[in-house]
Amino acid sequence: NSIESASFEWSAPSNIALVKYWGKKENQIPANPSISFTLNNCKTITKLEAVKKAENNSFSFDLLFEGKPKEDFKTKIQKFFERIEKYCPFLKEYHFKIDTQNTFPHSSGIASSASGMAALAMNIMSLEKAINPTISDDYFYSKASFLARLGSGSACRSVKGEVVVWGNHAEIKGSSDLFGVEFSEMHSNFKNYQDTILLVDKGEKQVSSTVGHDLMHNHPYAERRFAQAHENLSKIKAILSSGNVAEFIKIVESEALTLHAMMMTSMPYFILMKPNTLEIINKIWKFRNETQIPVSFTLDAGANVHVLYPENVKENVLQFIQDELVEFCQKGHYICDQIGNGANQL
Ligand code: PMV
Repeated sequence: NSIESASFEWSAPSNIALVKYWGKKENQIPANPSISFTLNNCKTITKLEAVKKAENNSFSFDLLFEGKPKEDFKTKIQKFFERIEKYCPFLKEYHFKIDTQNTFPHSSGIASSASGMAALAMNIMSLEKAINPTISDDYFYSKASFLARLGSGSACRSVKGEVVVWGNHAEIKGSSDLFGVEFSEMHSNFKNYQDTILLVDKGEKQVSSTVGHDLMHNHPYAERRFAQAHENLSKIKAILSSGNVAEFIKIVESEALTLHAMMMTSMPYFILMKPNTLEIINKIWKFRNETQIPVSFTLDAGANVHVLYPENVKENVLQFIQDELVEFCQKGHYICDQIGNGANQL
């Protein structure tokens, strides 16, 4: 190819699953389908500079994370390049400078793997498009999601917005285990849906999601759980289309607790929630009961709580968070986010 040098910059957001991905097969194939809200403010911004080099028998790149070299990220990216090489045979022809930063604080307990892998995948697709300008938009985004998946499963849901399904499901047209697809039938009740992330524990996770996914092999409840995820995806599809927020809350909270129940019932077993996670959940339930304001929670594979609610109750809910939940956050920290549109070229 004739591209000697090129430079691109993309931002990609984090996402929060409503129906959770937990358990995988070979090659990052999910054991069950999942669906997520793409976020807007929690993003990774990555710049990629590519310069053709003389030899092409190894990967060559420099990495700066927030302006400084970072060895553990380098290892991750090396592995990522190895995994995607057969789909991007041009990678070894270039020396790359990768310059990346997050809009959310580094040690916040918010995983940056989804946004980070998605941002890098978008840049790699920009290089592919520079080499081969005839590729379609559809191919560009699907393959970006496909590549992001090979970096970190849930990253494939960060390429697009506002709601993305990943994994084969009979009722979602075009759905695939290989990449995420946009869910476009959303009711206006979910427009600008809010996600306020309460930072309960900013530490490194005690158990990585890789280990967690693996523990679903031979898990006593695995088969039932995978079937339930299919059922919940069918239900939430209908709910998102009809705008039934009360039913939405039931599925989303049940999914969060089921995810953690899977961790508690694996062998070895583990608990990622903290006492303050439970304090917050109970406060949310009490507030919802007393006020009928449709505020709900979901959880990632960690102790932080994502508080989900419609935009029209934002003022009330933020007041409630200030008055009753902030005391359970580490250093009182939380992040306000909402549904977003996916990756953007800068
Ligand atoms: O993408 P991974 O391998 O880090 O797994 C993410 C798993 C959960 O965040 C717990 C659920 C999900 O669907 O995002």
